[in-house]
Amino acid sequence: MELPYAEPFKIKMVEPIKNSTKEQRLQWIKEANYNLFNLTSDKVFIDLLTDSGTGAMSDRQWSEMMLGDESYAGSSSFIKLKNTVKKITGFEYFLPTHQGRAAENVLFSALVKEGDIVPGNSHFDTTKGHIEFRKAKAVDCTIKEAFDTTINHPFKGNLDLTLLEAVFKKTPKEKIPFVVVTVTCNTAGGQPVSMENIKAVSALCKKYEIPLYFDAARFAENAYFIKKREKGYEHKPIKEICKEFFAYGDGMTMSAKKDGLVNMGGFVALNNEEVFKKAMVFNIMFEGFITYGGMNGRDMGALSVGLDEATEYTYLESRVEQVAFLGEKITSYGIPVQQPFGGHAIFVDATKFLPNIPREQFTAQTLAIELYIEGGIRGVEIGTILADRDPETRENRYPELESVRLAIPRRTYTDNHMNYIAAVLKNVYDKRNEIISGYQIVDEAPIMRHFTVKLEKI
Ligand SMILES: Cc1ncc(COP(=O)(O)O)c(C=O)c1O
Repeated sequence: MELPYAEPFKIKMVEPIKNSTKEQRLQWIKEANYNLFNLTSDKVFIDLLTDSGTGAMSDRQWSEMMLGDESYAGSSSFIKLKNTVKKITGFEYFLPTHQGRAAENVLFSALVKEGDIVPGNSHFDTTKGHIEFRKAKAVDCTIKEAFDTTINHPFKGNLDLTLLEAVFKKTPKEKIPFVVVTVTCNTAGGQPVSMENIKAVSALCKKYEIPLYFDAARFAENAYFIKKREKGYEHKPIKEICKEFFAYGDGMTMSAKKDGLVNMGGFVALNNEEVFKKAMVFNIMFEGFITYGGMNGRDMGALSVGLDEATEYTYLESRVEQVAFLGEKITSYGIPVQQPFGGHAIFVDATKFLPNIPREQFTAQTLAIELYIEGGIRGVEIGTILADRDPETRENRYPELESVRLAIPRRTYTDNHMNYIAAVLKNVYDKRNEIISGYQIVDEAPIMRHFTVKLEKI
């Protein structure tokens, strides 16, 4: 028999987690104004809110923490990280930041101005937030297959080249500071972008003289999908695949809390010296001196090792296949999820799951709350609340997909946890017809409202 994959690690330290009763959870979620971000972690049994900064570090990473050089300028930990980033991405210039959105802030401060257009594939909310905050516009050019959860397209994160070229044709190039390609595309369901598409987008960008930047939070998972699904890459090492796709771009922003395998950190890496010099000023203003930019020396050391480990095939296989294990289990109960399964999360199609809840009543949020009440699982709404209001009309935006994202932290939960999660989903699915009303907003922030929104039951 062919041997199955198994985790390329064993567990050395455990952290207890505690379950609660349904009655307790009903009370707690009410007190939290029906916003799962407001729950303290002790009230959550299995936390799938995010895969960002929630993973487990390895013994090599912990030992690197002890070697951290906390010098203000020119620390050896910085040099280690800079060299690893160069080795893995090929980018010449590097600025550490405290997390991904800080990297966006630094780079976009240098490049994005009022009235600009930034095309991309379903920009992540902080990316869009940083674009719109500067009174520029994010234009979504994702292929239409991404918005039909039943279509089994291998690279649903791909950009539609016709849409992208149409934007290039109707916008003066001075108004397009860059195209942002998010790998994998979180908003579309952790869906990968193919090498072929990256290559074609890069060619189009070159033709119109527009730079291409990656939002590379999950670049290693993207490389794993290329290896598994794209002809010609089956035998290539992950690190080689990463190097190849980064070579099609001009730079990247990174939330190291994902494929950096650390709990905090981020960076900008790029090739253009002029852009680097501009961004450097903002790095110093917002983050810190350019050789630490919001990170400790020890954290930079751990990130350097994390980037190396995250681009190893055996790690990626156990990580992505655990997500697929959960996906298979859930779909075996007939529950509608984004197909194929994403790299870091399962996206449950809330509009199909809860057809009785209109989108004006926040279908995905309603489902996320039900999952919490049923089994103490904390997922996150990726739907109308997250999509925010149109900055001009202030009307709610209804995105193509209304999902609950069950994000799986890296190297953290076992397959037994996956079985438990699937059972919780099944129980809620079995009583879906009894769920007939959703929620309304009582208080919201003017931008990125999902973190702090207050809701009440209708
Ligand atoms: C694709 C993508 N880009 C950017 C970010 C922002 O990163 P951070 O949370 O580190 O600020 C995230 C975070 O989830 C993300 O998923």
